[in-house]
Amino acid sequence: MQQVEKKQRENWGSRFGFIMAAAGSAVGLGNIWRFPYLTGMNGGGAFIVIYLGCILFVGLSIMLAEFTVGRKTGLATVGAYKSQNRNWTFAGALGVLSGFFIMGFYPVVGGWSLAYVFKSVTGLLAAPEAIGDTFVAFIGAPVEPLVWMVIYLAVNIFIVAKGVAGGIEAAGKVLMPTLFVLLIFIIFRSVSLPGASAGLNFLFKPDWSVVTGQTFLAALGQAFFSLSLGMGCMITYGSYLNKKENLPSNALTVVSMDTAVALMAGLAIFPALFAFGLEPTQGPGLVFVVVPQIFAHMGGGIGMLFSVIFFVALTVAALTSSVSLLEVVVAYLIDEKGVARRTATYVASAVMCVMCILSSLSMGVMSGFTVLGVGFFDFFDILTDKIFLAIGGMLLAIFAGWFMDKEELKAEVTNNGEVSFGLFEAWYAMIKYVIPVLIAIVAYSGITAIEQKSLMIFGLLVIVVSAIFSKKL
Ligand code: TRP
Repeated sequence: MQQVEKKQRENWGSRFGFIMAAAGSAVGLGNIWRFPYLTGMNGGGAFIVIYLGCILFVGLSIMLAEFTVGRKTGLATVGAYKSQNRNWTFAGALGVLSGFFIMGFYPVVGGWSLAYVFKSVTGLLAAPEAIGDTFVAFIGAPVEPLVWMVIYLAVNIFIVAKGVAGGIEAAGKVLMPTLFVLLIFIIFRSVSLPGASAGLNFLFKPDWSVVTGQTFLAALGQAFFSLSLGMGCMITYGSYLNKKENLPSNALTVVSMDTAVALMAGLAIFPALFAFGLEPTQGPGLVFVVVPQIFAHMGGGIGMLFSVIFFVALTVAALTSSVSLLEVVVAYLIDEKGVARRTATYVASAVMCVMCILSSLSMGVMSGFTVLGVGFFDFFDILTDKIFLAIGGMLLAIFAGWFMDKEELKAEVTNNGEVSFGLFEAWYAMIKYVIPVLIAIVAYSGITAIEQKSLMIFGLLVIVVSAIFSKKL
């Protein structure tokens, strides 16, 4: 069954198509919405330095490991683990679960972004002082954000139901470059505002006194989230990758692009934020409050036009990411359960839709309703970002390092010796020894420092339970 599956596997249309799809998965709300607000809440420069450390020492190696495991097995997450070692099925299952949970809040924010395309032309920019309050009122409303979320999710369903090469690739190719160019433009506007230098200081002069165990966990979790790692997303994408492709160079390209966009988003937002006298610690509203203000200050039709283009690009960046999340779950149902692509897409997204409704309402009418001390939105967010992804990454590293054959890994990474990869030994030592230990230390110190301890314990329990029941998958 799996042999047949392998032969028929769809493939990326071109190398450019793969890079754009993988980078499209990585670059998303994580870079432009989440990275800046986490940076703001965790003290600026120091967080960025730690974040870059996580990317360099953990993210890059895990990216290569996911590509390698995916292409070697030619299977999506669960199948990839299972085909090598049945006892490891749970690690794949945990990934699918993470995909579900992330999709329990991601489309809510995607919906906000979509809404802002239209709000940009319907008076949002007319009163710059009110932009902050407008955002809070909007996300807390009972109906409006739900409508946008549903539209956003419907677009995902449409793309994923159409299949790999057709849908995802086409979407990725067009709007990623647009976003890139637009960010450069916004950076120029932002740093030239009077008072912008305070923002540059905030970004580039690390204040180490604000760093705690939580900062490291937040940075590590963000590195995984932003690079789409720790849940088998890149395993799944790698499984569609041609045997001739150079894995290390693809990994480096994707990681560099993702990191560049996150840093650019920071550069676009903080100088303007300080110039406008806003609070860096305001949380999830940051990009939706600061960026429209930049455009409002440009005035008139031009500001409006740029605002529309920005939110269209952000929405598409979000789409190419959420599509990859949905794809992980769908690919699992197709590969392991033999469900048809369309059916798998509809069933999975129906469940996600319900979770998103709860998440969205937790911003307003249901804000009093908490699970283990937090609302639904935060529940899904913290559970995935602070626990599942890092542990998923740790499991993958242990799996590749200790349960796969070193020579076989080497053959896969180097395309049977055709590609030279001088850092193979270093990479292998990283995934086998360094990364598992590093993640364990960061997770331990982060979890003990964090307020939501019961949530952390719940997350660990879920992992144990999924390990026990994974035999059924
Ligand atoms: N990386 C995406 C972003 O930054 C989100 C995402 C897509 C993701 N696929 C993922 C996060 C898989 C974790 C795992 O917006």
